[in-house]
Amino acid sequence: MELLSPSPEATRTFASRLATVAEPGDVVCLWGELGAGKTVFAKGFGAGLGVEATINSPSFVLMGEYAGRLPMFHIDLYRLSSAREVVDAGLLDDRHAAGVVLIEWPDRLGDALPLDRLDVHIDGGADEPRTLRLTAHGRMADRYLPAAEAAGARR
Ligand SMILES: Nc1ncnc2c1ncn2[C@@H]1O[C@H](COP(=O)(O)OP(=O)(O)OP(=O)(O)O)[C@@H](O)[C@H]1O
Ligand SMILES: [Mg+2]
Repeated sequence: MELLSPSPEATRTFASRLATVAEPGDVVCLWGELGAGKTVFAKGFGAGLGVEATINSPSFVLMGEYAGRLPMFHIDLYRLSSAREVVDAGLLDDRHAAGVVLIEWPDRLGDALPLDRLDVHIDGGADEPRTLRLTAHGRMADRYLPAAEAAGARR
C-alpha cells in the first residue's frame, strides 16, 4: 500500500488512523533517511493511541515509553550498530508484548528483525512530499492493510 503525503500533518493523520487498529505485541518498523519523517509518523501514531504526552525523538535516550490505549514504546536505533548492541542497551523488554513498539532505524537489528511486523518506508526529504510505502508481515497484515486503505493509501 502506498500513500503520497504532502505535509507533516498528512503523515500524522495517516499514522493516527493506523493506530486505531493496534493490538498488543504489534511492531512497526520505520524506514527512511534522516529527516524522512519517521518521528513525525510516530507522533501521529501516538496521537491515534490516545497518548497525551509529547512524543520526542528518542535519539539520546534510545527508547521513549508512553501511556495510551496501549503502552507505546518508541525506539531509535540510529546510534547503535548491531543487534548485539540493541540487546546490551536493554532495549528488548518483556513489557513490549503488552504494547506497540515503533522502531526507527530498524536496519540495525539485522537478522533480529521481528518476523511479524509492519514496515513503513518513507521516501522523500526536505520540503518534498513523502511517499509512505507499507508492507505488513505475518499477523499484522489483516488489520493494517485495510486500515491503510481506509485512510487513503492505494494498492
Ligand atoms: N509529508 C511529510 N511527512 C513527514 N514529515 C515531513 C513532511 N514534509 C515535511 N516534513 C518535515 O520533515 C521533517 C521530518 O523529521 P523527523 O524528525 O520526523 O525525521 P526522522 O525520519 O525521524 O529523522 P531521524 O532519522 O533524524 O530521526 C520534519 O521537519 C517535518 O516537518
Ligand atoms: Mg526520528
